[in-house]
Amino acid sequence: MNTAASDTQATTPTSLPRRALLGGVGAVAATAVLTACGSSVGADSDGGAADGELAAATTAPPGPDAEVVAGVADVPVGGAVMIDGKRLVLSQPVAGDFRAFVAICTHSGCNISGVEGDEIVCNCHGSRFRLDGTVAKGPAKRPLKTRPIEARGTDLVVG
Ligand code: FES
Repeated sequence: MNTAASDTQATTPTSLPRRALLGGVGAVAATAVLTACGSSVGADSDGGAADGELAAATTAPPGPDAEVVAGVADVPVGGAVMIDGKRLVLSQPVAGDFRAFVAICTHSGCNISGVEGDEIVCNCHGSRFRLDGTVAKGPAKRPLKTRPIEARGTDLVVG
């Protein structure tokens, strides 16, 4: 879902606690930004599919170290949210299809900056990712790295 509104909305970088970050986020205006962009953590060797390949939906259930990171209602359909302090981006491209991504850009390892409309954005060099994690705009060539995610009742559990 790409709307004219999402193309024209400005984002306001903010750092929010996990639950506060998720509250009141609309499907089109799911905009939240991590505090730091530009810290490289060397994520470029994470592997992943080539540019243009779909990021596979994670089918394996979260492992024994899984934890509740958000509520099902916190992730808007057609949108995404950042989970502050967890280096995660959660998205829901279509109703009931939850995705979890490591919030590190596959280009050069900057922290993902935030979500603008229906895209996940890295401001270091301008890469943008779709809600399924695939590259919408380079220079990144590989999709975001996925994490196992599962809806358990009203909770989203990531392993
Ligand atoms: S590190 Fe994200 S665009 Fe370069």
